[in-house]
Amino acid sequence: MQKALTLADSTVGKKALLAVSGLVLFGFVLGHMVGNLQVFLGPEVFNGYAATLKGNLPLLWGTRIVLSVSVVTHIVMAVQLMGRSSKARPVGYRKKDNAVTSYAAITMKLSGPLLFFYIAFHIAHFTAPGLALGNYEHSTTDVYANFVSAFTIPWVTALYVIAQLLLGLHLYHGAWSLFQTLGLSHPRYDGKKRLVAQVFALLIMAGNVAMPIAVLVGVIPPAG
Ligand code: HEM
Repeated sequence: MQKALTLADSTVGKKALLAVSGLVLFGFVLGHMVGNLQVFLGPEVFNGYAATLKGNLPLLWGTRIVLSVSVVTHIVMAVQLMGRSSKARPVGYRKKDNAVTSYAAITMKLSGPLLFFYIAFHIAHFTAPGLALGNYEHSTTDVYANFVSAFTIPWVTALYVIAQLLLGLHLYHGAWSLFQTLGLSHPRYDGKKRLVAQVFALLIMAGNVAMPIAVLVGVIPPAG
């Protein structure tokens, strides 16, 4: 007997699941950045914010579970869709004209896996187990101190800045693809869609890049 087709079996279903999981991750990245920007308000505010999040176990674990499911769904759907498109055209193009495909689309396959490694490193660094990457001790309660100690080290700041540039590229193309999946593909709206995708990606990138650099140049000082 033939198995019934589920949403995740069809190409359209896979694209929808890629888009929905991407939207959840978009929301997280925005919320995480806004929360982290409180580091500019000083150690009391920032450590208070971290303690509130960690103290609310249903929120903390609810978010962790939703994020994990979204990351796995996003990766599995992306890999399966890439597999389908190469199966559909195993020979490849004799002459491939990438005029329409943007630079971001070509680098999507590269930025996706690199971001995965960055996220794994980032969680190991700040959360579990919590790595002190220089001459300091990691604290489970003083998140402000971990933040300042880490980004005082130039290579750590450089690594985070590079990751945020990759994230910006990924978000830009992700937002663009989302508009296509939602059916907003009329050329009349292309200019507006491009602008919304660019503004969103640039805002996230600027906010995330500002924090490590502000520590490195002394705008965010050690707790004193
Ligand atoms: C420069 C940019 C970023 C900074 C400064 C930053 C900072 C932090 C800090 C300090 C923590 C630990 C919080 C705590 O111990 O209470 C954390 C956790 C985390 N960050 Fe980031 N983050 C950045 C970008 C990102 C990005 C781009 C992602 C994902 C795409 C991300 C995903 C996470 C996750 C999943 C956690 C673990 C949350 C948990 O405990 O479950 N972060 N981040």
